[in-house]
Amino acid sequence: MSDLLTTVPAARAFCEAARARGAAVGLVPTMGALHDGHRSLLRQSLAQNDVTVVSIFVNPLQFGAGEDLEAYPRGFENDLRICAGEGAAAVFAPSEAEMYPQPPVTSLDFGGLSASLEGACRPGHLAGVGLVVAKLFAIVGACRAYFGEKDWQQLAVVRRLADDLSLPVDVVGCPTVRQPDGVALSSRNAYLGADERAAAGVLHRCLLAGAALIEAGERASAVVEAAMASVLAAEPLLGRVDYARVVDAATLARREPLRGELRLMVAAHLGGTRLIDNLGATVPPP
Ligand code: PAJ
Repeated sequence: MSDLLTTVPAARAFCEAARARGAAVGLVPTMGALHDGHRSLLRQSLAQNDVTVVSIFVNPLQFGAGEDLEAYPRGFENDLRICAGEGAAAVFAPSEAEMYPQPPVTSLDFGGLSASLEGACRPGHLAGVGLVVAKLFAIVGACRAYFGEKDWQQLAVVRRLADDLSLPVDVVGCPTVRQPDGVALSSRNAYLGADERAAAGVLHRCLLAGAALIEAGERASAVVEAAMASVLAAEPLLGRVDYARVVDAATLARREPLRGELRLMVAAHLGGTRLIDNLGATVPPP
């Protein structure tokens, strides 16, 4: 069994005790409803640290009005079984009152990193992620912390948070785990009906189409983005496309002509579910 920690002092004491006996601490922040994507983060942490702590907290601050906070999938007992089965030393699962005894007035702004893409479509979302991650880093203390590339912009923001505030945290990005048809694992996939689930592969196909064009020598983002859009348009079940873009992988800004490390980014609605995905592409130096 993993130790179940539900208070901030208990989590802090657990991590301090581990470090005091020379153990390296790994942190895997999650919102629960654990799947094989989360499991891959957990396994990487277990491989690189002596003690792994999984946090499970559905953070209300990162959900906007009208989003799926109430409906967000929860399966705490199963999550505990997964953490114990994989060998996590502890699960930190605080209540909302424990994490936010008073409504926080501190707010984090990530400048250009949060101005577009998810930052533009979900106002306040990345600030909410930043605040809860900053709290987790403050509670856990010096550690390696594991985040999925599936949420590329979140990973970029968390890296800068740790750098800008000189936090004693080594942020480790982990590759996206996909199903055989390319669909990225996501807790929100549970919302999809069978026909929607079958259609969801279109996001990955759109990313592959964009990456293939870059690989073939295309250097104009508008051409790459038009190709991505036309793959999406061919799927009749797909609803509104929030964005289908190619950006600089580090700054998330436009790169014209395309060069260096790039990231293809997509967000679209399928029925009532909003899905996001991304893929890397590289333009080698001439
Ligand atoms: P959640 O959506 O539960 O995801 C927890 C971590 O798992 C994130 O770092 C996410 O990128 C990673 N992840 C999700 N799906 C993945 C996949 N298919 N392959 C690899 N990694 C995957 O992201 C959050 O929670 C929250 O915003 C959080 C960081 C916990 C802050 O509240």
